[in-house]
Amino acid sequence: MIVRGWRSQGERIAFVPTMGNLHEGHLTLIDEAKRRADRVVVSIFVNPLQFDRPDDLAAYPRTLDADRRALEIRGAHLLFTPDETLPYPRGMETATRINVPELGEQLEGAARPGHYTGVATVVCKLLNLVQPDDAIFGEKDYQQLLLVRRMVADLNLPVQVHGVPVARTGNGLALSSRNSRLSDADRERAPHLHEALDTAGHLLTQGAPASVVEAAAGERLHQAGFRVDYVAVRSASDLSEPDTNDTDLVILAAAWLGNVRLIDCVRAKRG
Ligand code: PAJ
Repeated sequence: MIVRGWRSQGERIAFVPTMGNLHEGHLTLIDEAKRRADRVVVSIFVNPLQFDRPDDLAAYPRTLDADRRALEIRGAHLLFTPDETLPYPRGMETATRINVPELGEQLEGAARPGHYTGVATVVCKLLNLVQPDDAIFGEKDYQQLLLVRRMVADLNLPVQVHGVPVARTGNGLALSSRNSRLSDADRERAPHLHEALDTAGHLLTQGAPASVVEAAAGERLHQAGFRVDYVAVRSASDLSEPDTNDTDLVILAAAWLGNVRLIDCVRAKRG
């Protein structure tokens, strides 16, 4: 309703979907939204359909009051906090779902079955509810960003999708609400994830083969005390396995420290 009023006045609307527990990484998306549009809508909705483990969903931090304050200070115009019955009027079990094959089934999708169906479904619903001109996503979740882009193109959704670089602490660790669950010792180790990916990026730029770079980064992480789920060098445009002609690459990794699973990625140019 409010958004419709803005639009009828010719204002451009940007939308930042989140699950709350906001940190500086989320807030950089709001800055980008403000650069692109007159009005910024932020949603906070912890989407049950994208959680593969009920305990993970139950443990997800909910900090609405602090989030509301952070959004006000950062200058978002509208906070949208639907309860489950709006996106899922007939319940989760029977909901129509969106699958994005290939992009949704590899890497994070393989590690977390059903996760990206949940993401694609809820993002489509949120876009339909808000009807923004622009939608802003972080490159921190690089696979998610590409998946949303693909869904928007395939379903002809009238929105432009924009990516924002990963926001990091001074020592390189990608900001994430999961960082607060790291033990003190693991917090010291955590920046090695970005360091290993950064080194991998330099090696690729110097012409090292993808498989060698993946193995070296995996070994570095193992040495630093991580349990590695994957390190993968992929084409930055569609996550396909790169051939030697692919110049625009991304290195993605997921690895555990204790019971905390961290993901990160860096871009790399070759040739
Ligand atoms: P959430 O994890 O809350 O993240 C919301 C947005 O913030 C995503 O686009 C994510 O990539 C971005 N983000 C998180 N940490 C970041 C960082 N360090 N730097 C830059 N961007 C960062 O991602 C989701 O929620 C959900 O899957 C959602 C898209 C809302 C669908 O439920």
